[in-house]
Order: sequence, then structure tokens, then C-alpha cells
Amino acid sequence: MNSVHTQGSKAMTTTHAPDDLVIHPRNLRFEADEAHQRWWLNGDAVATAWHNALSITFPAGETFFIESVRRFQRDVPDELAKQIKDFAKQEAFHTREHNEFNARVEADGYEIASEVSRVEERLAEARKQHPVAQLAMTVALEHFTAIFAHSALKNPDLMEKTEAESQRMWAWHAIEEIEHKSVAFDTYAHVMRDAPARKRWSIRCLVFLNVSRNFITSRWIETRRLLAQDGITGWSARWKLLGYLLGKPGIVRRIILPWLAFLRPGFHPWDVDDRELIGEAQARYGFQDEAVAAE
Ligand SMILES: [Fe+2]
Ligand SMILES: [Fe+2]
Repeated sequence: MNSVHTQGSKAMTTTHAPDDLVIHPRNLRFEADEAHQRWWLNGDAVATAWHNALSITFPAGETFFIESVRRFQRDVPDELAKQIKDFAKQEAFHTREHNEFNARVEADGYEIASEVSRVEERLAEARKQHPVAQLAMTVALEHFTAIFAHSALKNPDLMEKTEAESQRMWAWHAIEEIEHKSVAFDTYAHVMRDAPARKRWSIRCLVFLNVSRNFITSRWIETRRLLAQDGITGWSARWKLLGYLLGKPGIVRRIILPWLAFLRPGFHPWDVDDRELIGEAQARYGFQDEAVAAE
């Protein structure tokens, strides 16, 4: 893959990102709810454990995303370089807030240090890969976050009985994941612009399939470990988690089609313009004024 990274022309590669796309880093902070409970998500142990497992991976994961994209910031056209800057700011704010959130998970009595070190170990392995391979991993994981974000904002009822501040934090994160969903993808497309289309597509898809398997397997294991700390173990834990992911509400079932879309040659994250979900969520959670104030 060494041969494909050229640093010559900075001419813009084709992107399907909307011309009027705004990537707006909102420097927001979220506190614990006054009536905070250990099972903060709808009082549901399984839903809480799944989201806690996601949150545990975010600080280290998003730091990796920033590194893997910023490495190419000087090589890309100015417009994309500006998007990378805003992407990095958004991910840095997410890292800060999820660190705070994870401290509250720990304060609730969960042991998470061993999960955090496992995430760090996996990322240390990833950092040994070629920079383009690391970028392709980020492209894959950014697709995951974007389609989970879309599903979360489209179905706010799934967090209906969730503590207000936590609802707001997850919605804020989802909004920004949608806004910057094409940044890593377009960076990869630019870096690989001299490679044959078939090679660009096959590398992106092979990495995506590998990352998808690891993502689901790791979250499954981590969620089970967290559930075990609530005394939910064995087949009971397996069935409950399987039901949550694939049955009702089917957190993973709901993203199967958009997951598959990534494999199509010619796919671009903005094939689906879901910015109306951002507007609705901003109005629902009252982010508009705060976002302006945070400039
Ligand atoms: Fe993020
Ligand atoms: Fe992201």
C-alpha cells in the first residue's frame, strides 16, 4: 500500500458531501443527572451495559480516529483540511465528555479499568499498521458511528425514559457524528486517488468487514462483562443481549441495511442526506442557542 499514497497534487477528489455542509464543533459539557441511577438508560440493565461498553471505547477510539485522519491533513485540498480540523475538534470534545461519563460509570460501582486497557491494547496493535490501513479502519468505524447516530436520532423514543442529561449527551454526539461522517471517507478517497477504483473499493470493504467483526465481537464481550457485574450472567445474559440487539428494540437489526450500503462500489456517506435529523434533534434538546454561545 506504500505505493498508493502520493503527496503530489492537492486537486480535490470527487465528493458527494453537500456544498452547504457545516461541521460545527459544539463545546458542550454534560453533568450527572440529579436523580442519577446505575441503570441510567430507561432503567434497563442491558441497554445501559451496551451503551456503557460503547462509551468505554470512545475516548481511546476517537483519539485514534483523530490521529489517523490528521496525519493526512497537509496533503488534502484546503476545503477538506478545514473539515479535518473541525472533525478533530468535535472528536476531542466527545473524548472529554465520554471521559466524564465513564468516570460516572465507575462511580456507579462498575470496574471498567480492565476494559479500557483492552481497548488500548487493540489500538496499540492497530497503530502498527500502515497509515492508510489505519485511515481505512477509521473510515469503517466512522460509518458505524454515523449509522448508529442516524438510528438514535430517528428513534428518540428508544431513550424516552432515560435521564435527561444523558439523553442530551448522546444526542449531541449523534448530531456531530452525522455532520462529520464523510471526513475520514473523503480523506481516504483523496489519499487513494491514484489507485485503481477496484483496489480502493476492495481495501475499504475488506477492512470494513474485519472491523465490523471485531467491533461486534468486542462490544458483545464487554457488554457481557458489565452485565456480569450486575449479576446477569450465562444464557440469561446472552438471550437478553441478543434480544436487545436483534429483536426488540433491535439496536443492531436497525442498522443492517445502512451497514450493507457501505459495500456498494460508489458508496458515499452522503448518499443519504440526513441533516433534517440534526435540525429536529437540535430543536428537541435545545442545542441551537448553546451551540452559538459556544463559538
Ligand atoms: Fe465522536
Ligand atoms: Fe466520529
